[in-house]
Amino acid sequence: MSDAGRSQREPIGVIGTGYVGLVTAAGFAELGSRVFCVDIDAEKVGRLRAGEPTIYEPGLQELLARNAERISFSTEPGEALEHARLLFVAVGTPPTYSGDADLSAVHAVADAIPPASDRALVMKSTVPCGTGATLLRSFSEQGKAALAYVSCPEFLKEGSAVEDFMNPDRVVIGDEGGWAGDAVQELYAPLRSTVVRTDIASSEMVKLASNAFLATKISFINEIANVCEETGADVVEVARGMGLDERIGPKFLQAGIGFGGSCFPKDVDALKQLAGNTGYHFQLLTSVIEVNELQKRRVINKLQRHLGTLAGRRVALLGLAFKPNTDDMREASSLVLTARLLADGASVSAYDPVAEDRARELMAGLSFAPSPLEALQGADAAVLVTEWQELCELDWPAVAQAMAGDLLIDGRNALDPEAVRDAGLRYEGIGRR
Ligand code: UGA
Repeated sequence: MSDAGRSQREPIGVIGTGYVGLVTAAGFAELGSRVFCVDIDAEKVGRLRAGEPTIYEPGLQELLARNAERISFSTEPGEALEHARLLFVAVGTPPTYSGDADLSAVHAVADAIPPASDRALVMKSTVPCGTGATLLRSFSEQGKAALAYVSCPEFLKEGSAVEDFMNPDRVVIGDEGGWAGDAVQELYAPLRSTVVRTDIASSEMVKLASNAFLATKISFINEIANVCEETGADVVEVARGMGLDERIGPKFLQAGIGFGGSCFPKDVDALKQLAGNTGYHFQLLTSVIEVNELQKRRVINKLQRHLGTLAGRRVALLGLAFKPNTDDMREASSLVLTARLLADGASVSAYDPVAEDRARELMAGLSFAPSPLEALQGADAAVLVTEWQELCELDWPAVAQAMAGDLLIDGRNALDPEAVRDAGLRYEGIGRR
């Protein structure tokens, strides 16, 4: 983009510098906007100011460094409020005990905006359908009728968030008309993506429904995999055959040990809860969640079938993060797997190229190894939990030599069964022949 184009771009505020906020900030800075980031966590702000990474996300550090002069970080909203009309909200919305989303951080942002302020909150945080309407009502009760609201849900995937920001499948903008929705659309214009302009409630629902649908696709193929195991079919072949139907599509048909992360488990629950609050029982999502929970435990049955009792056995876990290219451990299948193995008396060694520090905070009782082969040393069985590329390309003869046993469970159907078998290991995938 030309310097003239860049200088005409709307400056923005980004409230919350977690994974969504930081990628949004870096992405818009790359497109030429001046970005004022705000976070209440002083330690995080200090690290970001010093150029230190706070999350692991491929390409993010480079983007932040390249655009450092256009991005500032502060614990106070003053500068953002002074310079930016559009305030992107990317704060946490964790579930409460009732299963509803905790919107206190979102309300705190709205409360910090002075009355008579011609600004707009642009919601990036995942919120229940109806949040925009509630906030707009509270703006007018607080004498902040000039404050606009735009729903602009986020569809970034961890591990490819920068790429996803720069090449979105679509940009969804929900608003009530007025300047703010147009201004947000203008910000995204250089990406030349399909833009869906709609009302606020529909935009909020697009986000929840998209995540719930993708999670449903995964639970569906996992159930097909489980049936394949009983019938002699191979789920990888089945998914290939299904995915070529354009109405189905090939993506998110990879069977494995279940979905995790900060989004699917939370958002599927949130949509089920949202429906329940209106008196509607979202039966399908109840099954999606249950299938996913059972799927995480099926590996234990496989280990028991091959090893008998797990007490005193040594099991190596390859990968711990909820998926590759991230250090995120939230709702990772490895957490359930480790706890079950330890409860059954197994000893567990694990290797993850990036998530070890986060895993150490959450998991006690297992030993962390500095390399895959050290984790595999003396193991009776190994489980591929996260399909990091380096773990898919291990030297299988060396693996066979390091292990005491020969069982390798491919929890992500990511390995080449022939290569593993040629090394003298027993390969077992999820729903594979
Ligand atoms: C997900 C959505 O894909 C994003 O569009 C959305 O923006 C994001 O949630 C969010 O709401 O913030 P993410 O959680 O980063 O992104 O990760 P995914 O790549 O969707 O994977 C989620 C889980 O599903 C992982 O545990 C992954 O291993 C599992 N998965 C994915 C499968 O088991 N099989 C598949 O075929 C695909």
